[in-house]
Amino acid sequence: MTSTEDLAARFESVFGAAPDGVWRAPGRVNLIGEHTDYNEGYVLPFAIDRAARVAVRVRPDSTLRLLSTFGNQGLTTADAGALQRATARGWTKYPLGVLWALQQRGVRIPGLDLLLDSDVPRGAGLSSSHAIECAVVCALNELTAAGLGAEDMVLATQSAENDFVGSPTGIMDQSASLRGAAGHAIFLDCRDQSLRLVPFDAESAGLVTLVIDTRVSHSHAGSGYASRRASCGLGAEVLGVQALRDVRPADLGDASALLDPVTFRRVRHVVTENDRVLQAVALLGSAGPTAIGPLLDASHASMRDDFDISCPELDLAVETARSAGAIGARMTGGGFGGSAIALTPVDAEQRVRAAVERAFARAGYAAPDIFGVRPAAGAIRVG
Ligand code: GLA
Repeated sequence: MTSTEDLAARFESVFGAAPDGVWRAPGRVNLIGEHTDYNEGYVLPFAIDRAARVAVRVRPDSTLRLLSTFGNQGLTTADAGALQRATARGWTKYPLGVLWALQQRGVRIPGLDLLLDSDVPRGAGLSSSHAIECAVVCALNELTAAGLGAEDMVLATQSAENDFVGSPTGIMDQSASLRGAAGHAIFLDCRDQSLRLVPFDAESAGLVTLVIDTRVSHSHAGSGYASRRASCGLGAEVLGVQALRDVRPADLGDASALLDPVTFRRVRHVVTENDRVLQAVALLGSAGPTAIGPLLDASHASMRDDFDISCPELDLAVETARSAGAIGARMTGGGFGGSAIALTPVDAEQRVRAAVERAFARAGYAAPDIFGVRPAAGAIRVG
């Protein structure tokens, strides 16, 4: 990733004037609480030290120009106020979706020059698209004096994803990016957006949080996500609750008699996963990161067996990391590819890395990308 000064200099050389500012928004990993956000449940993600940045200048006319350091096709349009889904190609749909969502909220979009940069790996399940959206929403909130608070910006970027990009995602990723804090995971109640910062200091506990990017992204990721969401909606409707958040583990016996077997397994994942988030938060408070390993393992098993969103590469990463010494491991994010996380004692890190690399080579999979992450600060103006 280029430095903020280099990004500003590059902006000036391509657009012919200095930016008004540079904003930065991180990607995330989710410690636990998967596919619970759109069920009005609990999640426990943290912002990571990899981020998107956007340099922006308000223009005197209504022209909109978008460029990035990572995608060759940008976009130029004469009227920043006339945003159409049809104009959006590739990565440009993320910034355009945010401008569109702000406009829906009554914000007048001026002419703009935007240059994006990012070191969040794309397609790795670490929310690279939300990082872009969050950087852009912070920039525009300030430059247009829209006065949105963090919770409004979360909803604006969710609308960008749901209504412009066309992905029916929840609010976890942008909440982590916009509201994250260094040294903490965020315990978010997705029903009312109430949030508690939970200290997560793996290093002091002699641990490292390893991300294992499997580098696979299965083609059914989009439709698989949407169909899981639909199953959850069906489950809630049949059980007569507002959302699956309202079903307790003790209700599952009754639920099994009312639901078809597949919907029941989907519901059981969400209900038990919400419970695991609550247990993880309690354990982090009472005993620290070393205590949550078994919950991570149980979460992965539930996603593999009940929610059916894992894949052979993720299962191999998780199982190999566990046998080589990780104290807990699970896939993270939407599933069907992307990354796993493995909470690993520092003295087992090299063993885990080598074992996963060997296992992937033996299985004929592409080499995984393995790196450590720690909870970083949320979105902020950097220049
Ligand atoms: C993706 C979505 C989130 C969330 C996760 C699964 O990352 O963007 O809203 O649903 O999947 O937990």
